[in-house]
Amino acid sequence: MDLQNLRFQIERIDTLPTIPKVLQKLLKVIENPKASMSEIGDFVASDPVLTSRVLKVVNSPVYGFPGRISSVSQALILLGLNVVRGMLLGVSVFEVMEKAMTGLWEHSMGCAVTARIIARRKEIKEPEEVSIAALLHDIGKVAMSLKFHDEYQKILFAAERNSLFIGESEKNFFTVSHAEAGAWIAQRWNFPKGLIEAIEYHHKPHLSRNVPLLTAIVHFSDIMIRAKGFGFAGDTFVPAVHPSVWTLLNFSDSEIREIFDEIEDALGQSENMLFKEE
Ligand SMILES: [Fe+2]
Ligand SMILES: [Fe+2]
Repeated sequence: MDLQNLRFQIERIDTLPTIPKVLQKLLKVIENPKASMSEIGDFVASDPVLTSRVLKVVNSPVYGFPGRISSVSQALILLGLNVVRGMLLGVSVFEVMEKAMTGLWEHSMGCAVTARIIARRKEIKEPEEVSIAALLHDIGKVAMSLKFHDEYQKILFAAERNSLFIGESEKNFFTVSHAEAGAWIAQRWNFPKGLIEAIEYHHKPHLSRNVPLLTAIVHFSDIMIRAKGFGFAGDTFVPAVHPSVWTLLNFSDSEIREIFDEIEDALGQSENMLFKEE
């Protein structure tokens, strides 16, 4: 398949029958760059399942307002429109992540928790944007696996048999990896530019020109959560942190140990809070 055709197919994952109805509707709302805060709020409020999920996520350690947000409109005010757009996608993508690859949701959520912890340490002004980028960084895997299910099973199998990183195995089949595929979708869904760039370069963080710190944090969090053995990202390796990211984040050994402990605490708390329907 040529690249153009592949891109066309990947971009249209929102038309797949496996995509939940609510996500299809949601994409229409957020695809529209002019959608206002109240339109999005009304849309979420009209769906009780979506509302309860949004409240669970905003009250989870991913966002750092544990148990304090009680309404969708309050979430919109506290987190801002762009963050809520991304978070809504994350929330509704949860189901498709589960369908796409067992363990991918845990990997993504763990990465988001880690990214938030790091963003706070680095005193980043909008830590929520960092967690969203981390939550959605592997969205390309979802698209590839849902759109080309049989091929993706082969990709996973080949990764295991030949001891390859999942991204290498994807490239062997498709010539592009989930990072490029994820950027295509992010563009098509009108994500903010920084988010598109972080998704595209999360495995090549030195190429991020506009949001190097955001991309570095996603890159680092992805590796930290793999090292923790939390969730499954398509292979069981822990890749090396890119030297440019070590330089940029400049963590000491003791800080890394502290971050590990914080992740442990946050994930322990979140286990019962996220998406376990009572
Ligand atoms: Fe990745
Ligand atoms: Fe990842």
